[in-house]
Amino acid sequence: MDVDTITHPAAPAAAAPVIIKHKQVVGSIDSAQMPWVEKYRPATLEDLVAHEDIVAILTRLIDSDNLPHLLLYGPPGTGKTSTIVAAAKRMYGSAAAYSSMALELNASDSRGIDVVRNEIKEFAGTRQLFNSGIKLVILDEADAMTSDAQFALRRIIEKHTRNARFCLICNYVSKIIPALQSRCTRFRFAPLGMDQIRARLVEVADAEGVNYTADGIESILSLSGGDMRRVLNLLQSTAMSSAVVNERNVYLTSGAPLPRDVDAALEWLLNLDFKMAYDGLVSMCSIKGYALADILTDLATAILGMELPPGVLAVLLDGMSNVEHRLAFGTDEKLQTASLVGVFIQARTIMKIK
Ligand SMILES: Nc1ncnc2c1ncn2[C@@H]1O[C@H](COP(=O)(O)OP(=O)(O)OP(=O)(O)O)[C@@H](O)[C@H]1O
Ligand SMILES: [Mg+2]
Repeated sequence: MDVDTITHPAAPAAAAPVIIKHKQVVGSIDSAQMPWVEKYRPATLEDLVAHEDIVAILTRLIDSDNLPHLLLYGPPGTGKTSTIVAAAKRMYGSAAAYSSMALELNASDSRGIDVVRNEIKEFAGTRQLFNSGIKLVILDEADAMTSDAQFALRRIIEKHTRNARFCLICNYVSKIIPALQSRCTRFRFAPLGMDQIRARLVEVADAEGVNYTADGIESILSLSGGDMRRVLNLLQSTAMSSAVVNERNVYLTSGAPLPRDVDAALEWLLNLDFKMAYDGLVSMCSIKGYALADILTDLATAILGMELPPGVLAVLLDGMSNVEHRLAFGTDEKLQTASLVGVFIQARTIMKIK
C-alpha cells in the first residue's frame, strides 16, 4: 500500500498556495544567533499581547506604589516571566537600579531551605543607603521549591513586607502551600488566544524575513496549544530547516502527524479489514516517522468530533486510552498498533449488531 498517495475523499482540490516572500534580512551576528523567543521577549508591559486585564491591574499597582506580593501561575509560554521582568523594569527604570533592587531565582539555582534562610533573607532584609524603594524578589518556577523552603518563606515574607515584595511564579498552583497562596494576590495566565498569537506570529515572521503561506501560519497555531514559546520555536526551526513555512514543512519539523494522514488512518480503521488497516498504520509510522502516541491523540480528537452512538464511543475511547497508557510505559509499538486496530474492529462489531 502506498501511504503517500492516499488522500481523504473529502479533501478539497489543492490550489497553489500564496507564498509571502521576503528579501533576506541581514541582521547583526548577535541577533542572528539569538533564539527568537528571547529576541522577541516583550521588553515592556505594553508589548505583551493578551492578558490586558492583568497588565492593566499591575500597571496601576506599580504606578501607585502599591504592589502586593504576587503569585503568577498558568501553563508554559503564556508570558508569566516576561510580565514580571517587564513590570520590574517599569518599577526601577534603569538596568542598574533593577540589578540592585531585584533578585531573580529560578529552578536552576538551588532553592532549598538554606537559600531561603540566607540569600533571600539577606537580600530582603538589607536596606539600600541611597535608595528608599521597595525590593523585589522573583521566585520563578516556585513549584520546584521544596516544601520546607516554602514553609520557611512564609515567615520571611511577613517579616520583610515593609521593604520587599515577593513574586512567585509557577505552572501548578496546587504545588504552592496554601499559607503562601494566601499571602499573595493571584493572577492566572490562560493559554493565549489564536488571534493574539496569529498577529504576533505574523509580526515576527515579517521582521525575520521568513517566507510563509497562510496554511503554514495556521498549522503553527493549531500545534501551539496557546503556548507562545512553542509558536516562536516552531517558526524558527521550520524557517531554518526549509525555504518556506507551509503546512507540510511545519508538520515535518514538529514531527506531528499531518492532518490528512490522521484522516487517512481514521478511514482505514473504520473501513478496512484487520490486516490491511494494521499494515497501513505500520507503514505510515515507519515511512513518515510518526509516533503512534501522537496519532492516537489526534485520532481521539477526530472521533470526538464524529456523531457516533455513545456505546460505541465509550468502547473506542476506553480502548484507546488503554493503548495510550501502555505506550507510555514503553511497550512494543507494533503490538499496540494491532491492539488499536482491534479496538476499532470491536467498536465496528457493536455498530453492526445494533
Ligand atoms: N503575552 C505574550 N506576548 C508576547 N510574547 C509572549 C507572550 N507570552 C509569551 N511570549 C513569548 O514566549 C516566550 C516565553 O514567555 P515566558 O518566558 O514569559 O513564558 P512563561 O509563562 O514564563 O513560561 P514558563 O511557565 O515555561 O516559564 C517569551 O520570550 C516571548 O517571546
Ligand atoms: Mg517562566
